[in-house]
Amino acid sequence: MMAVALTAVAMTTRSILLRDVDHRISQLLTQETREFANFVDQGVDPDTGARFTEPRRLLEVFLQRQYSDPDEELLGLTGAPGSAPSVLRQPRDTAGAALYRDRDALARILASSASFGTLHRPQGDVRWAKVPIAPARPPAVPSAAPPGAFVVAFHAGHEQAIAAEAFRTQLAISGVALLMTTGIGWAVAGRILAPVRVVRRAAAQLTEQDLTRRIPVRGRDDIALLAETFNAMLDRLERAFAAQRQFVDDAGHELRTPITIVRGHLELMGDDPAEQAETIRLVTDELDRMSRIVEDLLLLAKAERPDFVTPGPVQLGELTADVFVKARALGEREWVLDGVADREAELDPQRITQAMVQLAQNAVQHTVPGQRIRIGSREADGRIELYVADSGPGVRTEDAAVIFERFRRGTPRRGTRTSGGAGLGLSIVKAIAEGHRGRVELRPTEGGGATFVLVLEEDHDR
Ligand SMILES: Nc1ncnc2c1ncn2[C@@H]1O[C@H](COP(=O)(O)OP(=O)(O)OP(=O)(O)O)[C@@H](O)[C@H]1O
Ligand SMILES: [Mg+2]
Repeated sequence: MMAVALTAVAMTTRSILLRDVDHRISQLLTQETREFANFVDQGVDPDTGARFTEPRRLLEVFLQRQYSDPDEELLGLTGAPGSAPSVLRQPRDTAGAALYRDRDALARILASSASFGTLHRPQGDVRWAKVPIAPARPPAVPSAAPPGAFVVAFHAGHEQAIAAEAFRTQLAISGVALLMTTGIGWAVAGRILAPVRVVRRAAAQLTEQDLTRRIPVRGRDDIALLAETFNAMLDRLERAFAAQRQFVDDAGHELRTPITIVRGHLELMGDDPAEQAETIRLVTDELDRMSRIVEDLLLLAKAERPDFVTPGPVQLGELTADVFVKARALGEREWVLDGVADREAELDPQRITQAMVQLAQNAVQHTVPGQRIRIGSREADGRIELYVADSGPGVRTEDAAVIFERFRRGTPRRGTRTSGGAGLGLSIVKAIAEGHRGRVELRPTEGGGATFVLVLEEDHDR
């Protein structure tokens, strides 16, 4: 771009300079010829005081009075038509590439019918103007050529060379400027892009296995912000990958236990039919547990998908009653339908039922027959709450923080049998609550026991 622009400027300057030279020469020629014409009209011979009669005398007197420019030549040509002209020079003439010696060129100028012209010579162009002098008396033999003429010639070569020199100088300066701007531009762009290269290299060195690399953050500019954002993204990615690895580890571990048990029982199984029946019962039990874990895992994997929860208008009262009926079938307890929020809400009834049944299942696991379990729903602070409250031993404070995580079980307590579960139940409840943009809370319960509450925002999809 810059090269094109600079060249255009140089070319334009050159043509303007040349046009100026041309214009100035034309003016000069016109002026000289006008002066001569005036002299022809009004000039008188200083010797006689009368008008000139001789063309030669007229030219002599005129030329003596003139001063010419260095590149200018003033000539008077006289002579018989057809013959080589005799030349009168301006006495103080200093022109270098003298035209007066070039008889051939002079003859051509004299013969030309035009009064202005350009003569191309190897030494350079000559711009000329000519004023023919009418003969004082009619010539004896009529001829096309006048008996004399005043010629002013301007050697344009010098002026043109100055213009060309200016053009060359400008080109050279432009070239240097171009080189400098290119160099500076290159260096500046390199400096600006250097941090981007650092980011790119760091990104290229990241692999799935090694997400520990971070980009050094320097300064407070956009690039630094980019690096910070990039690092924050890497932190999240690293955590996500770690969580995923942990999850796969845990899942593998959980599934290996039942497999080991099944294999052990089958290997040790003897021929006794009673023993065989017992083994089959145990093995089936383990396989059931395994398939429950697998189902739970699949459900949790599905929880990442956007269609995990499909909410619709639901009568909360009906939903709570349904959950209550299903929960009652889980065990011999003192089931109580506590309270019911009688209103409509946007929920996924199947998922909510699933979550509530999980909570009821836990409550059954942590209570003994005859203990009270309350189920209910209510509206509080514009939020909907569904809860399961049991009268069991409750959750230890140190467990409260971890039981919602996958594969995490609380510390077993005396007097309750262990659930034998994988520790996925509350993760599923949590996933369902979060699918509704809500949460699950563990609340202290009057008289001991645990209360798990699904807290769902009323306007969760608005
Ligand atoms: N109602 C409850 N009372 C006391 N402790 C509970 C109660 N519900 C859950 N917990 C504690 O929270 C832990 C995690 O519960 P979660 O439902 O996630 O797993 P789990 O019941 O052990 O196994 P799973 O549900 O996968 O069969 C339980 O191991 C238990 O220690
Ligand atoms: Mg459970």
